[in-house]
Amino acid sequence: MCPEHVEIREKLKKKLKPSRYEHTLGVCYTAVALAMRWGADLEKAELAGLLHDCAKRWSNEEIIYQCEKRDIPLTEGERNAPAVIHAKLGAWMAENKYGVNDPEVLSAIAVHTTGKPGMSLLDKIIYVSDFIEPGRKQLENLDEFRKLAFTDLEEAFFRICENILQYLERTGSVIDPASRDTYEYYLKNRRKVSSLESQFKGNDAIIKEHGEPDSETGNQCPQRRPAAKRSKGAGRGRWQKKTQGRRNS
Ligand SMILES: [Fe+2]
Ligand SMILES: [Fe+2]
Repeated sequence: MCPEHVEIREKLKKKLKPSRYEHTLGVCYTAVALAMRWGADLEKAELAGLLHDCAKRWSNEEIIYQCEKRDIPLTEGERNAPAVIHAKLGAWMAENKYGVNDPEVLSAIAVHTTGKPGMSLLDKIIYVSDFIEPGRKQLENLDEFRKLAFTDLEEAFFRICENILQYLERTGSVIDPASRDTYEYYLKNRRKVSSLESQFKGNDAIIKEHGEPDSETGNQCPQRRPAAKRSKGAGRGRWQKKTQGRRNS
């Protein structure tokens, strides 16, 4: 851990209650591990992980008051679901109290509760790490999500997003529309990807039946014979025959 981050860690240890501090370290280390796995910047992951809950040390009412005091605008959805606001206030505090000026790190902190359409790799790493860190109490499918985060981050992110939304619906909690927007955006994206995949699979089936498409035009060449059935030397141009001769000489 770089010296600046150690300083931040010491400061957080004093500000946060012990269980929140332990969770913070869990998210920080998980984020670094995921950054190693998926090729994100390790220092940024460490910093965003450390600071993601830096504003989660007050009650919801106090967090709203802290935002108003600093002229941080709140949406109606956030006021109705105040548990998400510590992310926005946290990004403000990271910038103004902890001297962070990296927009990628600030974004990852700001969206770690609701997500947003078009999230960066670092945004997703922090969102996922917050859910799977080792200190998280055992939730349904948690082991599966933990494995998935290291094999398919995109899928893990989507499934966690879905899981959180389903939980909030099941428990009758008020949901910030920003969380729904994130889910809808990635659901649409997922449908696009799976439709593209099935198109490619369709192409594979055609290729198996009729041969490869013409590389120049992309058209199918049903008459093309499989290479194995060609007689030795058949189909070779004059240039190829000459080259073969030269090689043997
Ligand atoms: Fe949080
Ligand atoms: Fe957290």
